[in-house]
Order: sequence, then structure tokens, then C-alpha cells
Amino acid sequence: PQVTFSDDNGRVTAVLPTGESVEVLLYGATVISWKDKNGDEKLWLSKAAKLDGSKAVRGGIPLVFPVFGTAPDHEQTSKLPQHGFARTSRWEFLGKSTSESTPASSTAADLSVKLDFGLSSAGLDSDAKSKWPYAFNLIYSVTLGRESLTTSLVVSNDDDKPFDVQVLLHTYLRVKDISSVSITGLGSATYIDKVGGVSPPQTQSASELTISGEVDRVYTPKDGASPTEVVPVTVVEGGKTKFTVVRDNLSNVVVWNPWVDKANGLGDFEPKDGYKNMLCIEPGSVSGWQTLEAGDAFEGAQTISFSY
Ligand code: BG6
Repeated sequence: PQVTFSDDNGRVTAVLPTGESVEVLLYGATVISWKDKNGDEKLWLSKAAKLDGSKAVRGGIPLVFPVFGTAPDHEQTSKLPQHGFARTSRWEFLGKSTSESTPASSTAADLSVKLDFGLSSAGLDSDAKSKWPYAFNLIYSVTLGRESLTTSLVVSNDDDKPFDVQVLLHTYLRVKDISSVSITGLGSATYIDKVGGVSPPQTQSASELTISGEVDRVYTPKDGASPTEVVPVTVVEGGKTKFTVVRDNLSNVVVWNPWVDKANGLGDFEPKDGYKNMLCIEPGSVSGWQTLEAGDAFEGAQTISFSY
């Protein structure tokens, strides 16, 4: 059995022999679908999302780079639109690779597939280039496994001077009913609340977060010093763990749900009560800046897993 694969009309699709699939738009290198072996969709995508390259995609996994939100006071990125240009640029498909691994519980090997996408200053449109005139290279890898999806971004500074970046993997997870969802892994984390203006940092005392109104928080979880001591964020629905999100070299997690009024204000958010079926858990590096010296690189990744 082979991975089936297609690359046409600005979309790359891969399907594992066991039925799991992923679909990525070259526009923004936006993951717009991730399905399990039963065809159940794991990501939320707005019914009114523009998939024609006219606007950043509302749903899936848009990539935020090199600025989170807008940064009028940060000279290098002050001219850029909200969330930067990566999600609105046309990326190049670099290729695919498959690998096999045998889980401890099984004798049969599992296949996974990795899709690589690239965007560099040379491939940027003139508008974005004029607003962020640095020589850079981005490689974004999307790896589909049997029960996981990993997305990983490598930023290289190809310039002869330093530049500052922020990175965020703006993942819209699909849930059945937000009122029965709780989020663990953020207890005792500090966060900045962006609802109604940016608040001073606070600390979450409850071990679980539930959502019953607009939420827009930038968390800094209490990870340990080594990469193996990262605190996973889990999304529990109806008492069952639905998703586990593990960050690699990304110290922040944004939790976002627009709720009624914000969803009503977003023209590309449909259906309007779709906020009940989504939750953004967005691993990133967005409090402060990653300064990349000439020739340096930064890599950050997330792995989202689920179980049946
Ligand atoms: C989140 C931000 O990451 O993205 C929110 O924290 C923002 O403040 C949301 O509203 C959606 O942004 P956009 O640009 O896709 O509408």
C-alpha cells in the first residue's frame, strides 16, 4: 500500500493507505483539512472561508509570520498587516517523503507522510517585500501520521543584518460542542488577556479552562528547561481527551474563540454559530521577539494527536 497524493490547482493532498488525509493550500501553506481514518474532520474551516487567494483562510491552520497581530511600535514590522504575510503569500511545494515506523503495540508498520513547502524573500510579492525588506527563507513541513499531525516551521535569516520575528501556528480545532470542552495544561501559566484591550499579565489558578464567552489569551505555560519537559495542552470534550497539543521550541499558546459578537463581525465566519464548533489552540513564539542574526535559523513545531 502506498500514500496517494495529488498536487493540482494550488492544493496538495496526501492520503495514507489506512485512510487518514491532509490537504494544504499553496496559498499561505494553509492546512485546510485533516481527517482521521473514518473521514472525520479534525479542523474547523469556515463555510465562507476564501480559498481563492483573495484573503487569509478563516479556519484550518493559517501561519502567522513575522508578526502576531500588528506591532505599530516595532519598527521592523510596523508596516505589515495583521498576522504578517505568510498566510497570504503563495508558497512553493518542495516535495514529499514517506517514512515507516512500527508502533510497540503492533507488528505492522505505520506509514506517515511529510509535505514540505517553501517561501523566501525571492518569492514574495513586491508589496510584502516593500513592507518587510529582509532576505529570509521559510520551510514549513506538514507531517501526517496515523493519529497525529505535526507542523513545523524553520525560519532562516539569509540577510547580512539581524531581524526580529514572531511565529504562530493558528490552529482551528474542531469540537462538537464548546460548552462541553475543557482545556488542561494551562493551570499556573501566566497569560495576557486581549479581550477588551491588553491586560497586564495574570496567572491562571484553575487547572482547567472552560469557554463560555469570548476568549483571546496569550499564555506562557510553565514548561521545564528541556524540550522533553514541555507541558502538553489537552482539549477534553465530554470527559474524553480529544486533542493533545505538544509544542517544540514554542513558548506561547494563544487560546481564541470569538463567541457571538466577534463571529458576527467577521464576514468570512460561517455559520455564525460556528464558534460552538471550534477552538483555536495556537502554539507560537509571540511574547517578545526572536532576533535572528545573519545566517541564523529558528525552528518551532507543534504535534497534535488524537485517539479514537
Ligand atoms: C488570534 C488573535 O490569534 O487571531 C486574535 O489573538 C485575533 O486577537 C484572531 O482576533 C483572528 O485574527 P484574524 O486576523 O485571522 O481575524
